[in-house]
Amino acid sequence: MQLLDGKYVSEKLKQEIANEAAEVLANSGRKPHLVAILVGNDGGSETYVASKMKNCEKVGFRSSLVRYDETVSEEELLAKVEEINQDPEVDGLIVQLPLPKHIDPEKVTEKIDHRKDVDGFHPINLGRMMRNLPCFIPATPYGILLMLEEYKIDTAGKHCVVIGRSNIVGSPMSILMARNSNPGNCTVTLTHSRTKNLEEIVRSADIVVAAIGKKNFVTADMVKEGAVVIDVGINREISTTTKSGFKLFGDVDFENVAPKASWITPVPGGVGLMTIIGLLRNTLASAKKEIYK
Ligand code: GUN
Repeated sequence: MQLLDGKYVSEKLKQEIANEAAEVLANSGRKPHLVAILVGNDGGSETYVASKMKNCEKVGFRSSLVRYDETVSEEELLAKVEEINQDPEVDGLIVQLPLPKHIDPEKVTEKIDHRKDVDGFHPINLGRMMRNLPCFIPATPYGILLMLEEYKIDTAGKHCVVIGRSNIVGSPMSILMARNSNPGNCTVTLTHSRTKNLEEIVRSADIVVAAIGKKNFVTADMVKEGAVVIDVGINREISTTTKSGFKLFGDVDFENVAPKASWITPVPGGVGLMTIIGLLRNTLASAKKEIYK
């Protein structure tokens, strides 16, 4: 078994991003600028957004955090999105999900100017992704592709089984792995909570992408000898043994699955770190007008 080491890859790619950010600054006089909107106090979201902001600073981007109480109205949030859309000093805008129940996430996602949608959630970016056109790719799938690329994992002709059909990970991942590109060219099966014979299907996978949000969902008996296992799960549990007061678990029973896998991502230290890279790369591409002129 070999580790797909998110820490190593993300540090390496961050250095490349920092070099390019310095060039942007030298050429244009401004740093790539990411704005994040965070509504409410969800523990997971707080952690993720703080990490996004911190990593922006690390690679020489400007970052701004706009916070709202969870009682903010949909109208006020949409007005803020519009204001940021119009701000020429902003390259990327993300609204951290989930949002409180009274706010429609579809309305907010569609309100973001697709040319600043560095999460790649806007229907224009998703549609362009389907058609293999230049677009912002959702950060987590993008990060996984960069990881597969870095370790030169051969994906062509392989059976990739994605577990979970979320808009953020499972659905876009299934599209990307089937595309005629490298990484890609897989035969993809997208499985979910209503899939029959899920264990059997996962056992036939050369590449497993677990994005179901359930601790230890993928067990050793579900994994073929030599499979590549990508664990997207970030399941937080309260812990008395860690400094943060939380411990993270993946969707994969790492201890028992790892001996069977050819390659596997750890949690923490795997996909989570690569998600940040996907976001930074998209923000840099936006600042450089690489996708939309
Ligand atoms: N919530 C969980 N993952 C994400 C993400 O990648 N972007 C945003 N905006 N919200 C999330």
